[in-house]
Amino acid sequence: MSVKTNRFKIARSFGSASTSYDISARLQRYCGKHLMPWLPNRNDLTALDLGAGTGFFTELLASRYQYVIGLDISKKMLNFSKENRNQSIHWLEADAYKIPLQDNSIDLVYSNLMIQWCDPLDLVLNEVMRVLKPGGLFVFSTLIDGTLFELKSAWAQVDNDQHVIDFKKESDIRPLFDGTDRKLLNAKQQDIVLEYENVLHLAHELKSLGANHVPKKQAKGLAGKDKWQKMTKSYQDFIEPSGIYPATYKAFSGLVVKLNN
Ligand SMILES: C[S@@+](CC[C@H](N)C(=O)[O-])C[C@H]1O[C@@H](n2cnc3c(N)ncnc32)[C@H](O)[C@@H]1O
Repeated sequence: MSVKTNRFKIARSFGSASTSYDISARLQRYCGKHLMPWLPNRNDLTALDLGAGTGFFTELLASRYQYVIGLDISKKMLNFSKENRNQSIHWLEADAYKIPLQDNSIDLVYSNLMIQWCDPLDLVLNEVMRVLKPGGLFVFSTLIDGTLFELKSAWAQVDNDQHVIDFKKESDIRPLFDGTDRKLLNAKQQDIVLEYENVLHLAHELKSLGANHVPKKQAKGLAGKDKWQKMTKSYQDFIEPSGIYPATYKAFSGLVVKLNN
């Protein structure tokens, strides 16, 4: 699948989730809030929320900073945000690979759980550095390898298809945040284990978040009943004594400065 087709499908899958997203966004809220201590205290700043989604954190940025832009590739997400968020926010329908903003124009780029969808990631990071002013900050969170390992392992008992997206290893992405024009000032890895009533609950949450697009999946549509039953049985290996189904998300977050060259 071409990179462009893939991005179109990501936008579509998030777009169809725009109205259900906020109810299911436990992980996003948790990760996004953990980035707050890294935000600069000055308020005369221009901030960009890259992959703003339903605009929950864009609105938080707007309560702190003078000029705030929310950018997303999904028109439906943006329509939701325009209707529901602070009217002072400027919304941009655009691709993170081609940010329609001038060089050295932004003080802060905030991006919560978006860049795991970007492959190749280095090109997006170059765009972020291009729009940041020297001394400007990039505050981000993403998901890394090991995320949803329970679901991946349960499906591996059933077939060889891909059912969970490939999350990159921390050791592969970490070097991308350091370079001649950038420095990783702070980084954190956290395992977040969310609890589900059953596997269907997990699948519904992934769908309502729009995070169910798996580019390399061979078979299209839903898995047959037999396969699904086999997978849910395998997932039971992970059940906690309380009967709760856990799902692990490995979050990697960081604070990057654009160097004055
Ligand atoms: C998991 S959501 C996170 C939304 C928001 N940051 C939050 O914390 O709730 C990821 C968002 O990134 C957007 N996205 C994915 N790929 C993108 C790209 N290449 N350019 C811009 N936005 C993108 C999706 O449309 C979606 O709204």
